Amino acid sequence: MCPPAYFKVTYSINPWMDPDKPVDLPLALAQWEDLRDRYRALGHTVEELTPRPELPDMVFAANGATVVDGRVLGARFAHPERAAEAAVHAEWFRAHGYADVLEPEHINEGEGDFAVTTSWLLAGRGFRSSPLSHPEAQEFFGRPVIGLDLVDPRYYHLDTALSVLDGDEVMYYPGAFSAGSRAVLAHLFPDALIATEEDASALGLNAVSDGRHVLLPQAAVGLFAPLRERGYEPIGLDLGELLKGGGSVKCCTQELR
Ligand code: ARG
Repeated sequence: MCPPAYFKVTYSINPWMDPDKPVDLPLALAQWEDLRDRYRALGHTVEELTPRPELPDMVFAANGATVVDGRVLGARFAHPERAAEAAVHAEWFRAHGYADVLEPEHINEGEGDFAVTTSWLLAGRGFRSSPLSHPEAQEFFGRPVIGLDLVDPRYYHLDTALSVLDGDEVMYYPGAFSAGSRAVLAHLFPDALIATEEDASALGLNAVSDGRHVLLPQAAVGLFAPLRERGYEPIGLDLGELLKGGGSVKCCTQELR
């Protein structure tokens, strides 16, 4: 995770970002600390990346890399405003003993567009990550990649529309995907938790699950009961200030598998 010490919205690269809307920085920090402290209270280890003043979106650490089995596929950002973040992440991994760090040839925005299930690497495309990053990730991780087409600009990253709960269990919002991708998702995940437009537009799918607890935006009220029915413990958080950058729980969290 990366504290939002220099978080602000000065440019707009997704429909959630409005540079005219002020950000309450102390509140953003407090909301972010709440998320970090929740992880720690649940027994998880949280590493912190040092924020850079010239990179206001660094708080969205999920985009910096994808890590599976200790192997690191670095990011390459679609927009110049965030391009320099990739090297900061790659450098962190090298400094922390990760020997296998690939700096990719094709654009991929890390866990923004890659989601890891037991059987597959789900991979979003359409707004940010290049379709060419999919075979690159498949070759690097040796896991079957399932390409999914995102069609609604509000759900510009896969992690705004789909979340892995455990194993091969996911929750997603069908409206974010093309008809073909919806059919693929229905085929692979017949028992998925299907989110409503209301919960999806509260960024409720931008969630992190440890297989038992699901941390998600508290505004996604409709997801709590179905999660409980499936045996999960939903934990609602208010990351409203970071939502102004177009991200929430998952965007702020890169998982070191
Ligand atoms: N402002 C950031 C961007 O548009 C938000 C990134 C959110 N991260 C995510 N994993 N969806 O790139």
